Amino acid sequence: MNATIPKPPFETTANALEAFTSELNTRYHMMGQWQDEGLLKSMMGGAKPVGEPTVWPWAITESKLLEACDVLPESMGARRSLLMLNPGITGKNGTTNNLLMGVQLVKPGEVAWAHRHSISALRFAIEGSRDLYSVVDGERLALETNDLVLTPSWTWHDHHNEGDRRGLWIDVLDVPLLVSLGQVRFEPYGHAEQTLQRNGDYISARAGIVRPTWEQRPVRNYPIRYAWSAVSKELERLHDAAGCPFDDVNLEYVNPMTGGPALPTMRCCVQLLRPGFEGRAQRRTSSTAYFVIEGEGTTVVDGKELRWGPRDVIAVPNACTRQHFNRSTRDRAVLFSVSDAPLLEAIGLYCEDPALPLAALPTVPARPVRA
Ligand SMILES: [Fe+2]
Repeated sequence: MNATIPKPPFETTANALEAFTSELNTRYHMMGQWQDEGLLKSMMGGAKPVGEPTVWPWAITESKLLEACDVLPESMGARRSLLMLNPGITGKNGTTNNLLMGVQLVKPGEVAWAHRHSISALRFAIEGSRDLYSVVDGERLALETNDLVLTPSWTWHDHHNEGDRRGLWIDVLDVPLLVSLGQVRFEPYGHAEQTLQRNGDYISARAGIVRPTWEQRPVRNYPIRYAWSAVSKELERLHDAAGCPFDDVNLEYVNPMTGGPALPTMRCCVQLLRPGFEGRAQRRTSSTAYFVIEGEGTTVVDGKELRWGPRDVIAVPNACTRQHFNRSTRDRAVLFSVSDAPLLEAIGLYCEDPALPLAALPTVPARPVRA
């Protein structure tokens, strides 16, 4: 290519640098890296939080959801979901910089139409029943109260309420992350509902300790349901365990197909803060959105005190110090949380300060020697 490069219209003078950079910026869509001193300074001292520590109180959320039922009588292709937008995040919709949490209401008899998207999502039922369910890639997955159901990236999903009471759940999606990456794709199914192919035990039967050899190996993006009846048993079983000095009795939902986090971009946990728990402060590079299942407490985030109660939503931005308290002497508090830690771990950027002092694995008792 023989493009003629025009000569700079200036001489080398004391103002040469200014004139040069001005020309770069205005004519050539370039900048000198030295121009962005602010960027370099902003990187000193580590990553900075994006967004503000925030609580969305349930009383407001519920009243607005009820109003939404009036102004949006039928959801159909849309979703009657209120999304929690962090007041400190601009330019994209996020509860934290990588996560979007919302609360959705599905009326009795209603169907939220089928679609799929590259965005990974999950539902955590607030008011559920056997008659409230999602169909994910043809499989019916019940949403009983406190059940967790995954709709991994690019899986078809529609939601149904065949009961006579409202259905309520938490949605969490990696929307802000995929927007930042320029990877958002969406496709409507073409009909309101998918054809039902399986009825709830197909995945769990294959995610156990054995599976049929004559079937194709499962792919990564399998829909999975975590029944509260099983999770709460573990929470009860570990009620008197040592726990963690930062998070008390905190259990991670494991993806049975991978042994890793529930979704490639989202770690889900259920956390029991026993009465009187005073957590130690810990800074993490990841961000977290919490939903309060039960109880009341306080989380101090970078010195800001967030008081929360049942069904509140809380945002803890990335790079913040968090410290949990349950000051009740009688009542426990239980939190469901979703963090973007798996994403940061995948690129080597997840860290905790101070690091969690992991307990040693229990020792296997020696086999008695028989004479
Ligand atoms: Fe969706």
